[in-house]
Amino acid sequence: MTDYDALTRLLESRHSCRSFAPEPVDGKALQNLSDAFALAPQAGGGNRRLQCRFVTDQTTIRNLAERGQEVFDAFCLSIPSPFVREKTARYGENFFWFGEVPALAVVTCRKVPVFLEQLAGHKAPLIWGGELSAAMSSFSLLLAAETIGLGACCLTGPLLMWCEMEKLLNISKRDSLILLIALGYKKTLL
Ligand SMILES: Cc1cc2nc3c(=O)[nH]c(=O)nc-3n(C[C@H](O)[C@H](O)[C@H](O)COP(=O)(O)O)c2cc1C
Repeated sequence: MTDYDALTRLLESRHSCRSFAPEPVDGKALQNLSDAFALAPQAGGGNRRLQCRFVTDQTTIRNLAERGQEVFDAFCLSIPSPFVREKTARYGENFFWFGEVPALAVVTCRKVPVFLEQLAGHKAPLIWGGELSAAMSSFSLLLAAETIGLGACCLTGPLLMWCEMEKLLNISKRDSLILLIALGYKKTLL
């Protein structure tokens, strides 16, 4: 099999996973994911702008999902129009399902510096490249996950409640939460 065939097979086999086996993700697997994340190209070079850390504490993960859902539900209830309220609630159905996942990757990026905002205005985030770098690194992580039998699912929906998420995850004021990635071993069919 050529490298291209192997890559194609890997790309074809990767799918978002939202249902995981209960066992924890071991340290070696998390290290593999971390290495793959760091190997992707990143704006500004090096690793300092972008960070990926792993949360494996089940209470923290559950609390994050439950609190996010609570704040989202309260937000929905505050919408006066029944039509908009229902649409919004439906829109959020896939945002806070991750309460039981064995691990969460938390991807953050240093905020765009003020000098760059002054220099480039609304194009500053594109030049800073934080989100694009996060996308590249995260995809690298997703592929690595697939090679070691881990299922994964990117999550940006929870960022609708970003203030709550950043507070609960203790994210520094200098950084922005870019996405979460739900992780766990895939359920094997008996
Ligand atoms: C940046 C990004 C954000 C996503 N956010 C969510 C999310 O909040 N909730 C969710 O259930 N899936 C989320 N997904 C997963 C997508 O729904 C999924 O990738 C898409 O349906 C394609 O399916 P596949 O990954 O199996 O190819 C996200 C995917 C990406 C790339």
